[in-house]
Amino acid sequence: MIIDRILTDIQNKGFSVQEHIFAKEDLLSLKTDILNAYHNNSLAEYSLKAAGIGKNADLQKNIRGDQIHWLQKEHLSSTQEIVWDFLETLKVHFNQNLFFGLKGFETHVTVYPVNTFYKKHIDQFRLTGQGMESIDSKFRKISFILYLNEDWEQSDGGELRLFDFNDQEKEITTVLPQFGRGVFFLSEDFPHEVLETRRERVSMTGWFYQ
Ligand code: OGA
Ligand code: NI
Repeated sequence: MIIDRILTDIQNKGFSVQEHIFAKEDLLSLKTDILNAYHNNSLAEYSLKAAGIGKNADLQKNIRGDQIHWLQKEHLSSTQEIVWDFLETLKVHFNQNLFFGLKGFETHVTVYPVNTFYKKHIDQFRLTGQGMESIDSKFRKISFILYLNEDWEQSDGGELRLFDFNDQEKEITTVLPQFGRGVFFLSEDFPHEVLETRRERVSMTGWFYQ
């Protein structure tokens, strides 16, 4: 079963690449839904916006060029719900079998427009809450990405590349953002980057946090 393979991989090498986690028609509908929101940017409650790093928009673009929209449990489409339920189940298994003590997960849909990238980084915890008194820190334990791009070719670029934590120039693996492929990795252990993409690149991205 796919969940067992993910758990075994995470335990043995810290990352896992899986195919066919979801049915093709569900993936297609997920993708259509994201691209509609992205291209007809009219739905205020579901529009993709430039992902934020700090406050300097120009600087930000030199680091990452993706457009994102955070999903909320109360506003999921029926296919987003299928993915959400899978992530819930996976969370329970991570906790029961690997004792990760995960509290939940957060996920956004993502589009990398042509010629964008995300420079090498480590996924960090996120602080939420408005006033200092209500800051709630989420320590990201596992990162995941589900790719939704049909017939991706090597020449399309946009690969996810994982590096060794102790030798950050040493490549561990390179993954094409191929339709239906899911990648999971320990957030703290792998510096990684998204190489410049030559095609619009669509995905769902998220983090299980403690
Ligand atoms: C991220 C990230 C990788 C990818 O959003 O932090 O590294 O392949 N994404 O989209
Ligand atoms: Ni990342």
